[in-house]
Amino acid sequence: MKEIQYNISIKSTTNIGELNAKEQELVQRAQNAANRAYAPYSQFKVGACLLLDNGLMIEGNNQENASYPCGCCAERTALNYANATYPDAKVSAIAISAFNSQGLVDEPITPCGICRQALLETEMKNRQSIRVIMNGQKHTIIAESASDLLPLAFDDSQL
Ligand code: THU
Repeated sequence: MKEIQYNISIKSTTNIGELNAKEQELVQRAQNAANRAYAPYSQFKVGACLLLDNGLMIEGNNQENASYPCGCCAERTALNYANATYPDAKVSAIAISAFNSQGLVDEPITPCGICRQALLETEMKNRQSIRVIMNGQKHTIIAESASDLLPLAFDDSQL
């Protein structure tokens, strides 16, 4: 049996100043959005901010529900709003920040599986990769494409 290796490359920085000005604003807005999250059950507040190629920045945060599975992650709240409101705009980046009871998480959080699939769909639709900026207190990590976060993904080519 042969073995197939998948290599992904993730950047990491302890200095947010290494991001360009727009991306720094994206991170700041993701943090602001997190503070407006509705997360009474987990007390884990997540914010996301998308950069569209029309220059707009779209914020989202997690929206929980007493019926737990009904809740929606910050990433998909932002993505669904952007895709519903600006269907022709391409998403070029997303910043994600999360706060626990201590404040901004030390280690960056990474999108859940469903959000990775949703980000991938937007990449495929727009034929443009989305830079995923995952922000933590200690460091911030960056994937150049959502597809890097979802190897062996299911997509429309398999339908
Ligand atoms: N959550 C997000 O909004 N984004 C993620 O990337 C991970 C998890 C939310 C879902 C739930 O409201 C809370 O964080 C705890 O899982």
